[in-house]
Amino acid sequence: MYATAAPRTRAVLVGAEVSSFHSPWSAEDSLRELELLAETAGLEVVGSLYQKLDQPFPKHFIGPGKVREVAELRERTGAGLVIFDDELSPAQTRNLEEDLQVGVLDRTALILDIFAQHARTHEGRLQVELAQYNYMLPRLRRQWSHLERQAGTGGGTSAGGVVGLRGPGETQLEIDRRLIDQRIALLKEQLADVHRHRELYRKRRKSSGVPVIALVGYTNAGKSTLLNALSGASVLAEDQLFATLDPTTRQVTLPGNREVLLTDTVGFIQKLPTQLVAAFRATLEEINEADLLLHVVDLTHPNAQEHAQTVEKTLEELGVDRKPTLTVLNKVDKLDGVDPDEVGALAAEMGLPSDVVAVSAQKAWGLDLLSERIVGALANAMVTLDALIPYQRNDLVSLWHRRGVIDREEYVGEGTHIHGRIPQALASQFMQFVR
Ligand code: GTP
Repeated sequence: MYATAAPRTRAVLVGAEVSSFHSPWSAEDSLRELELLAETAGLEVVGSLYQKLDQPFPKHFIGPGKVREVAELRERTGAGLVIFDDELSPAQTRNLEEDLQVGVLDRTALILDIFAQHARTHEGRLQVELAQYNYMLPRLRRQWSHLERQAGTGGGTSAGGVVGLRGPGETQLEIDRRLIDQRIALLKEQLADVHRHRELYRKRRKSSGVPVIALVGYTNAGKSTLLNALSGASVLAEDQLFATLDPTTRQVTLPGNREVLLTDTVGFIQKLPTQLVAAFRATLEEINEADLLLHVVDLTHPNAQEHAQTVEKTLEELGVDRKPTLTVLNKVDKLDGVDPDEVGALAAEMGLPSDVVAVSAQKAWGLDLLSERIVGALANAMVTLDALIPYQRNDLVSLWHRRGVIDREEYVGEGTHIHGRIPQALASQFMQFVR
C-alpha cells in the first residue's frame, strides 16, 4: 500500500484594476500575489484573467461580458473554484455562484483560510475563529436563499414573519445565525480573558524597562529569519505567506550588553481589510507598546516599493504610524553586484527612506551595524539624567548599565556619579539621586 497525494482543487483567479481605488498595485502584480496565496492554501491555479474598471459593477463586481469569459475559462480548465482578488459583497458572491455554478471565494476568505491553517497559539486560534465567523455571518443567507424564496418571504430577515409563510430553510437560517452569534459572544469573552492576562504581563515587562522592538513588514519579508539571526533562537521561517501569525518575543543582548525584547508580528498584505488586521490584537498591542519598529523590506522583490507603501498605509490605518522606525532592507545576498554603499540610493529610488540598514538575515550580514543603529535609535528615545548614586545602591548603577546609556561615569567619595540616558519607564527610580 502506498499513499497518493490527494489531487489539489483547481482554481481560476479573477482580478480587477479599479481606477477609483487608487491602488499602487497593477492587476497583474496583485494577481501574481493572489496566486501565491492560493498555492499557500493548497490550491492549484489553472488560469486567471482581469478587467480594468472605473468602478466595480454592483451585481458581479466585474462586467457581464467578463462574467461570461470567467465561465468559459472555468469550464475549459475544469476548475472547481473561482477566486476574486478583491473583497466581494455577500450579494456579489451569491450572484456569481449562481451564474458560474461553482464556489466563489474572495481574497479575504482565502487569507482567513491560510490564517486558520497557521494559527498556533490558543489566542491566535480564537482570533482566527472570530474573524471567520464575522466574515461568515452576513454571507450565511446564500446557502438558503432558494428556500427563502420558496417560502415567499422575499429573502428578508423576517424575524417576526408570518408563521405560516416561514419555510424550513429560513428557520434553519435563523438557528444558524443564533448559534453563530452565541459562538461569537463566547469567543469575545475568551479573548477578553486572554487580553487581561497579556496586559498584566506587559505591565510587568514595562516596569522592568527592557526596551521592546517590534518587527513589522510585508508577508515573507524575512522578519522571522531576522529575529532568529539576531537572537540565535529558532522561530519558524518558511517560504510561505503568513508563516507567523502569533507574536513571538525573544530576549536579545545587543552590543554593550544592552538587553532588548524583539517581537515578531503578523505580516501585512495589500487588500487585507483593516478590521481583519485589527482582529490580530496581540500583534497590534505589541506594535503599540514597542519603543522602536524595525520595518523589514524584501529589497529583492519586484514589488518592494508597493510592499513598503502597503505596510506604511496599514500602520497608519491602525494609528501606530508615529513610532520611531528603522527601515531594514533584507535579502541583499540575492542582489548580484550591488555595492552595499549604494543600497541607500537604491532605497531612495524606490521611495523608501534613504536612512536604511541593509542586511541579509539569512547569511547574517550587516547585523552588527543594525544592532548599533538599534542601540542609537533607542538611546534617542531615552531621558537624560545626571545622578550621584550612593555605593549601597550599586544595583541601580548596574541597572543603568544594562538598560540605559552611560556617557560619563566617575567614582567620587559619596558614590558613583553618572551622566547618561535611561528609559522613561525607569527614570522614577533614579529621581531621588538626580543632581
Ligand atoms: P511572514 O510569516 O509571512 O510574515 O514572513 P516573514 O516576514 O517572517 O518571513 P520569513 O522569515 O519566514 O522568510 C520568508 C522567506 O524568505 C524564507 O524562505 C526565508 O528563508 C527567506 N529569507 C529571509 N531572509 C532572507 C535573506 O536574507 N536572504 C534570502 N536569500 N532569503 C531570505
